[in-house]
Amino acid sequence: MDQQILVIGTGGTIAGRAKNAHDHVDYRSGEVPVEDLLGGIQWPTGGWRAEQLAQMDSKDMDHGTWRRLAQRVDALMSDPSVAGVVITHGTDTLEETAFFLSCVLAPSKPVVLTCAMRPAAALSPDGPQNLQDAIHVASSGLKGVLVVAAGAIHCPRRVSKVHPYRTDAFASVDGGCLGVVEQGNVRWWQVPCQADLVLPAMHLPAEDQWPHVSIWLSHAGADGEALLAWLAQANAQGAPAFGVVAAGTGNATLHTRLEPALFEAQRRGWRVWRTSRCAEGRGVLGAESAGQQSFPLVGLSAVKARIALMLSLMPGSAQVSW
Ligand code: SIN
Repeated sequence: MDQQILVIGTGGTIAGRAKNAHDHVDYRSGEVPVEDLLGGIQWPTGGWRAEQLAQMDSKDMDHGTWRRLAQRVDALMSDPSVAGVVITHGTDTLEETAFFLSCVLAPSKPVVLTCAMRPAAALSPDGPQNLQDAIHVASSGLKGVLVVAAGAIHCPRRVSKVHPYRTDAFASVDGGCLGVVEQGNVRWWQVPCQADLVLPAMHLPAEDQWPHVSIWLSHAGADGEALLAWLAQANAQGAPAFGVVAAGTGNATLHTRLEPALFEAQRRGWRVWRTSRCAEGRGVLGAESAGQQSFPLVGLSAVKARIALMLSLMPGSAQVSW
């Protein structure tokens, strides 16, 4: 049987519509149906099918859509007619969706997220080439979740959006991208990263049962008042568990006026994790500090640490050391 690539549309600028072809800013994200993005694409395997799972601006991505996406992709892993999956997505939260999928899937096929910075009918759109490159990667037979943008292949754990306008808007910190797509050929520079399966997609609870985890940034002039106010009324929100990611300065250090509120959260049974707000590297523990960590230090960006903490608070999750 000829296997197909399944393309799942979720919206984004790649499916954006602008009033005129010169406008890269004032357009509506998530308007063009995913089938309409596939004209002119070359299919290295036996063709394609497309599904519109969502049609949104990814700034509005939500846990319910993540759950539906993860469970759909998980089901496709055992469909013998599917060689690989491509997901079209907005750039704004693409790194979060890719990381989330890498924590809830153990893919036996390629699962490739792609995007665009310019709307579909721009004078020179970047979406069609990104999609073509993603389809080449999705036909390559490897296993795992990857991001393809501007000719580069990225690992979900290390990739971030680093530019609000340029078409080359993504970068992988600490080692660079995994490889490139050149004229349809996939060239690897590094072994694709292994993901950590925290909780299988099929075990994700309904979204109203997801733990509530928020991010608090330490910065000049920070204090804990807003966090204390939130703590005082959060239990009324009805989430089954609560957590806090504290994005610290430099080596994940916390403002002395924010720290007491984090201790108060911990005293109430909330899980508190610490990360660094630096774009590269991770917080490093010394021999002394390793033995007396008040809040576990994780080597993920704050938005990815939020996802990892949320998943790790769900029943049945594996406790991964990040
Ligand atoms: C979005 O994330 O949906 C809008 C921005 C983009 O895709 O570039």
